[in-house]
Amino acid sequence: MKITVAGAGYVGLVTSACLAELGHLVTCIDIQKEKIDMLQSGRSPIYEPGLESMLEKNLSSGQLHFTMNPHHAYSDAEIIFIAVGTPEKHDGSVDLKYIHVVSNLIAYYIENDVIVCTKSTVPVGTNELIQAIIDSRKPPNLQVEVVANPEFLREGSAVLDFFHGDRIVIGTDHHKVASILEQLYLPLKIPILKTDIRSAEMIKYASNAFLATKISFINEMSNFCEKVGANIEEVTFGLGYDKRIGHDFLKAGIGFGGSCFPKDTKALLHLGGHINHPFDLLEAVINVNNRQQSLPVLKAKETIGSLKNKKVALLGLAFKPNTDDVRNAASLTIVKELLEEGAVVTAYDPLAIPNARRILGNTIEYADDIRAALRDAHLAIIATEWEQIKYVPLDVYQNHMRDPIVIDGRNCYPLHEIQKYPITYLSIGRPDVNNARQKKGWE
Ligand code: UGA
Repeated sequence: MKITVAGAGYVGLVTSACLAELGHLVTCIDIQKEKIDMLQSGRSPIYEPGLESMLEKNLSSGQLHFTMNPHHAYSDAEIIFIAVGTPEKHDGSVDLKYIHVVSNLIAYYIENDVIVCTKSTVPVGTNELIQAIIDSRKPPNLQVEVVANPEFLREGSAVLDFFHGDRIVIGTDHHKVASILEQLYLPLKIPILKTDIRSAEMIKYASNAFLATKISFINEMSNFCEKVGANIEEVTFGLGYDKRIGHDFLKAGIGFGGSCFPKDTKALLHLGGHINHPFDLLEAVINVNNRQQSLPVLKAKETIGSLKNKKVALLGLAFKPNTDDVRNAASLTIVKELLEEGAVVTAYDPLAIPNARRILGNTIEYADDIRAALRDAHLAIIATEWEQIKYVPLDVYQNHMRDPIVIDGRNCYPLHEIQKYPITYLSIGRPDVNNARQKKGWE
């Protein structure tokens, strides 16, 4: 089929490359010239495992095109996917300006009947708004059907998720349109759910809100474990055996970041305010997450006192491993709080330094390798569980740091390993190791 994808961000690019891989003729349009230039030369503006090779292959075979020209993109498309950003406004609500722009362009440039699928995460009612915008401006002889088709890809495994996702949601009341999309997705052999438009929009928010709740729940539990002398990893393991709970997505740490959970939880909370439905649970989820991101610096102060002029090695800047994305990453909160305390920060990350530098500039130093970051440090904070970080031999901390004190925000090391080294080690929801100042818990 002739498919157009509006937006060359994570969702748009992965969708474009994967649909081209499935044999469709795909055009991806974006307004950023720099991005389109890069893509046309076969380079990906984002790091996503498996993406660049797929882009190169489909560009050279002619299955995939990148353009800034809306006439080329929209005039003869059979299906248009909207995958533009829906950023957060200051009040936590969703900014739909790009959705408005794209809807208007589609209405203006289409020359055939077309199905418009919204992949962007949008509040309930947005697809009806898109339908109304297009209907009011399109040529009267053309038929346009807008479908809610939310995306569940995770950064860092987005290509894999496209081909092996848990479900595909198609939100439309139009049976013929639903079956065209069903045919499109059939080769993936992923369960397809057909719902009404509003329920499809809500499935996306409910999924992200539930996953965020799981994380805040386990993080709150981990703080409790610290106080009563239990180990969150043992607790989680035991918890996960209950099939109704499961083992997934219960890793305690310094909170969720990224471009989705923080934004979507706030958006749902904001929406609740508008429909007179205060979402108390979600408010607590957000508060727990904010508190969790501040734990490393709190623990640092409790352990070594003043951080003024202390050299701190920050290991990991990305909001999670296998991505160069630092949006809402715990590392940014940690840097802000360390600088407020007068600490001197050197950060290491295998991929995210360029993106972090755009936000943090020269307020901190950046190291190309972990040993350089640790050299003469009074303290190390692990913010991201990259393989390059969690498999660093423990004697590296011992040999390079001035004081081997490690605050591990992602529970990278087994406690029985740490115990073999003279390292003061504090993690999340587990007993401290060699912490002379360890507070006595509940006995
Ligand atoms: C999330 C969802 O997992 C995707 O299904 C969804 O499509 C996407 O948002 C979106 O709305 O576009 P993503 O933000 O890429 O995907 O990353 P996740 O792997 O979900 O991780 C989010 C955050 O939660 C990370 O900071 C991670 O460190 C944290 N996390 C995750 C935990 O702290 N504990 C866990 O057990 C799992």
